[in-house]
Amino acid sequence: MDWRTHSTGARHLYIHIPFCHRRCAYCDFNTYANMDDRMVAYSAALVNELSALPPERMPLIAPHGAHPLLRADLPPTIFLGGGTPSMLPLAQMEQILRAASDVVPFAGAEITVECNPGTVLGKDYLRQLRAMGVNRISMGVQSLHDPLLRMLGRIHTAAEARASYEDARAVGFDSVNLDFIFGLPGQTPADWHDTLAQAATWDVDHFAIYSLILEESTPLYAQVQGGRLSVPDDDVTGAMYEHTMEFLGAAGYHQYEISNWARGPLDGPGGLPRHAGLHNVAYWLNAAYHAAGAGAHGHIDGQRFVDVLGVEDYITRAGMLNTPLRETTVLEPSDVLGETMMMGLRLNMGISYAHIHNRTGFDIRQTHGDVIAASVAEGLLDADDVGMRLTARGRMYGNQVFQRFL
Ligand SMILES: C[S@@+](CC[C@H](N)C(=O)[O-])C[C@H]1O[C@@H](n2cnc3c(N)ncnc32)[C@H](O)[C@@H]1O
Ligand code: SF4
Repeated sequence: MDWRTHSTGARHLYIHIPFCHRRCAYCDFNTYANMDDRMVAYSAALVNELSALPPERMPLIAPHGAHPLLRADLPPTIFLGGGTPSMLPLAQMEQILRAASDVVPFAGAEITVECNPGTVLGKDYLRQLRAMGVNRISMGVQSLHDPLLRMLGRIHTAAEARASYEDARAVGFDSVNLDFIFGLPGQTPADWHDTLAQAATWDVDHFAIYSLILEESTPLYAQVQGGRLSVPDDDVTGAMYEHTMEFLGAAGYHQYEISNWARGPLDGPGGLPRHAGLHNVAYWLNAAYHAAGAGAHGHIDGQRFVDVLGVEDYITRAGMLNTPLRETTVLEPSDVLGETMMMGLRLNMGISYAHIHNRTGFDIRQTHGDVIAASVAEGLLDADDVGMRLTARGRMYGNQVFQRFL
């Protein structure tokens, strides 16, 4: 089978909102401060892009191509990420969601909006999101230590983050994710434990927990390079990650991906936790997905594309017919194999040989049998007749394992 003809159809849509009140010291996402006056024009441009998605790419009822280890289909998903989508005025939010619902119908869909807790203080905004059909909130909290939050340039305190979380609950969101980062400059294992232990008492559905990546273009990187701040060394950061796995496991959370934990029960698609973030699961299964917005990446019909990065450029191009908005890369079979492995192995349930064959046309046991055997011998990978998955140790050295399949 030619992998290129195996189009699964896309039932997943990512929408990028590239505005922030202030850029955090660690963040190099495609996002801009002090451009609030462009939000209305940007939203109109987004609606244009969404309504111009080619009809043959309309997802509707196309089969997902479910992961054979999942045994079940994923529902459609829409994810508004950023940047800070919760900075959008409600009228613009409504416009965008309406256009999105023409691409991926809302019925049965997971619809997530990323919020900075400092932008949704008070319940009104969240209540309106709920009324518009949004059913999942993802909040960036990062830490529950005010000095660390200040050092990161966050616009909220720990108490405000908690208040916004409680507000999301109070207006009826029954699926809420909180993002945290560990390995921060000056953060001790005791600080990190304290943040985890506090958050675990809030009855949160889902945690996305990242090890700090020092991105070269950020102020934090410059401060660390200049010796004004120092980050914990790799052993300490590794121990923080191990502690996270143990602590959240004991607190009843299921780790289903390298950086993601969700509460049970395990009655989500294919036995995933009920509150697993299914939009991201679609990425990890290397499924097809639409994307719209400045710098947004999509993956459809064997091609990856990225929209122009800059807000002004995006507004201009999305408003003009026949003006290229995207750069498209046709994927080679070996690229698809590398991506399928790198993404799929992030899932704790792993990846099946049938899934790899289905997505790429490769029989991985023939093409990479030696790599699999060596990784198993080193205790990084478990493999059986159905598929393979990272071991707990393998999750700490995931990148090393992924490299072997690229
Ligand atoms: C788009 S933001 C979330 C929503 C909102 N903008 C906010 O920050 O509250 C996505 C998440 O990526 C994570 N992140 C961003 N830059 C990171 C970095 N350099 N290292 C680790 N995690 C990072 C943060 O946890 C952040 O919450
Ligand atoms: S972490 Fe969130 S709020 Fe901070 S700059 Fe990045 S996108 Fe904006």
